[in-house]
Amino acid sequence: MPEVKEERKEVEVDMKEVKVDLKEVRIDLKAVKVDMKEVEEEVREAVGMVRGRLTSCDWLTEADFPQDDFQHLYCLIRNMVERKESNSLLIIGPPGSGKTALWKGAWRILMENMPKLIKSCTLVELNGLIHVDDRLAILEITRRLRLEDVAAAETFSSHAENLRYLLSRLKDDDQKRGMVIVLEEFQLFSSHRNQTLLYNLFDVAQSSQTPMCVIGVSSRLDVLEGLEKRVKSRFSHRHVYLFPRRNLPDIHALTRRIASLPDAFPHPAFQKEWNLRLDALLRLPSVESVLRRLCDLGFNFHVLRAFLFLVISNLNASHPYVTEEDVTRAASLFFYNQRASLMQGLSILEISLVIAIKHLCKIYNGRPFNFEMLFHEYEKFALRGSSIHVHDKAVVAKAFENLLTLKLLRRVERGEMGSGSVPKEYRLYEALMSPEEISEHLMNLPSIPTDLQQWLTSQLE
Ligand SMILES: Nc1ncnc2c1ncn2[C@@H]1O[C@H](COP(=O)(O)OP(=O)(O)OP(=O)(O)O)[C@@H](O)[C@H]1O
Ligand SMILES: [Mg+2]
Repeated sequence: MPEVKEERKEVEVDMKEVKVDLKEVRIDLKAVKVDMKEVEEEVREAVGMVRGRLTSCDWLTEADFPQDDFQHLYCLIRNMVERKESNSLLIIGPPGSGKTALWKGAWRILMENMPKLIKSCTLVELNGLIHVDDRLAILEITRRLRLEDVAAAETFSSHAENLRYLLSRLKDDDQKRGMVIVLEEFQLFSSHRNQTLLYNLFDVAQSSQTPMCVIGVSSRLDVLEGLEKRVKSRFSHRHVYLFPRRNLPDIHALTRRIASLPDAFPHPAFQKEWNLRLDALLRLPSVESVLRRLCDLGFNFHVLRAFLFLVISNLNASHPYVTEEDVTRAASLFFYNQRASLMQGLSILEISLVIAIKHLCKIYNGRPFNFEMLFHEYEKFALRGSSIHVHDKAVVAKAFENLLTLKLLRRVERGEMGSGSVPKEYRLYEALMSPEEISEHLMNLPSIPTDLQQWLTSQLE
């Protein structure tokens, strides 16, 4: 009995110690509050830095651009500034191929390399969507050349005269000022009346009266077709074509370049941790497969930018580093497919037909098929003793029409296959989804019967 009493005493002593521990925890909590503020600041700066890179191209260096194209443009502007040589050039590439970034980069780097010389040169940026006629374009040129007062004192009988006057002022200037004029959405300028602006700009650039560099920027390959003969003949026919073909390692490197924090980041410990975690993240197979999917979409800077915006959108003090979940969440939002939601409303018969389409695509390597072939595939499965009800051909035809209306498949036009007028059931159709897409969307349906699920995943016989 006395032994038991002694044990109780020991327990009491332990409880006191626990109380002391709790006090210590309170002190720790205060410290944590201070840390949270710091982390908040660190995350804010890190996200701000990545966002800055996603929204502007000022951080890009010469090495980030395709070298030949960069040099072409850089030398053209440099020759105009240094030797007063006039010229014209077109930058052509699909949206998001880096056209604007290229000329802005060439201009900015030249400004850094030759600050004194470039002061005698004016950059005028026009956009076909904003400067929709010659009057607006000339007003902008006047404003950029700071000749508003001089121009207001004169009267002009035409826009051409007005423009010639402005350009002659450049020529007469003591310093012989030069001008780089960039025409974004170049194809829209060809719809201006008589193409006066283009004619005069190219004419001046060709005749070297005034040092001037005319840079047209467009996404249209056939942009020259819209030019009048007299305008076309005055263009230098220099082109820069931008078709960024990037493979997975390139996208990997670019993502790292955009998302990593520089050594000069004001919080070194956070910077180190952020970069270590980023490297580990980029090595994960799930992240790699998302990047591969972006690559398969056809590389485009706009697409990568929009995706990375989504990835960093959830960061805050309590979630300071990008995780695998952030990437997969962004991917599910980004690759959200309207067809996937359409699938949720399909009847069992329609789902059966979609599965039959998937098998036909596999059997015939994506070549077009007709309703008879589809019905045969469906019937083969339904008669194989599955629990699925075998519908009449007319009912199946109606379900097939529904799939057409939902744009899950499309008719191959007569011209494309060279067939004349064909009976309805032999008309050719092709699926607007790949077999993999069909599998992916249908597998996610909660209510799909087991028979259909097995048919969906079954390999071809
Ligand atoms: N070489 C590059 N490396 C990294 N980022 C780039 C590069 N070139 C462009 N970007 C980024 O990609 C985005 C889109 O580029 P840009 O605006 O130049 O494309 P664009 O071809 O002019 O597109 P649009 O036809 O829509 O005007 C920009 O945010 C830019 O900062
Ligand atoms: Mg652009």
